[in-house]
Amino acid sequence: MQHLIAPSLLSANFLNLEKDIEMINNSMADWFHVDVMDGHFVPNISFGFSIISQIKSIAKKPLDVHLMISEPDKYLEEFKKSGADILTVHYETCNHLHRTVNQIKKLGMKAGVVINPHVSVDLLKDILPEVDLALIMSVNPGFGGQSFIKSSYQRISRLKELIEQTNSKALIEVDGGVDISNVENLVNAGANVLVSGSAVFKAENPTDYIKQLKNLGK
Ligand code: DX5
Ligand code: ZN
Repeated sequence: MQHLIAPSLLSANFLNLEKDIEMINNSMADWFHVDVMDGHFVPNISFGFSIISQIKSIAKKPLDVHLMISEPDKYLEEFKKSGADILTVHYETCNHLHRTVNQIKKLGMKAGVVINPHVSVDLLKDILPEVDLALIMSVNPGFGGQSFIKSSYQRISRLKELIEQTNSKALIEVDGGVDISNVENLVNAGANVLVSGSAVFKAENPTDYIKQLKNLGK
């Protein structure tokens, strides 16, 4: 499959969010990546339900919601109501990950699991057949604009092996420090979905930048 591009709204202009959403609607991007941070699991706070509902009201592409929050189980239904199409929870925040993943699917969303850079990819093996998406953090979560961690390439390749071994259909998503310099290597390693925040929104022409991200590594 050709890789998908999910621009992260964390780096959008919140004083003119509608303009940035329309830009993504009219670009070659595939999904909206929506980062939710609680100031507890990660040292930053972003936004919550009301903003997501408003994004949903004008977004013409699926909302890929990345939860960087403690105790995500408390809020799954609320994220569904707010318009999440894909809901991804951190491995590190779920004591009963199998239950959480199945609850997300039962609510009618695609389910994803994400791991921090220090966590062994092999720990995902048993949950892979249950999830639609597995996300490798290629920075420590919490902020946009950080440098890509190079060991992520090996982690993607290993995850791909595990997905094949377990007959999983999970897509491999990568988040953090993604720009036009590493797209080809990421796709070659096995990435299917690329999140890119600051590189897209800092570009002189974000629409054209998204096109480049989409067309590289084909
Ligand atoms: C980081 C977030 C990312 C962030 C990526 O914790 O999960 O989605 O927006 O931003 P860049 O592409 O700037 O690294
Ligand atoms: Zn993210």
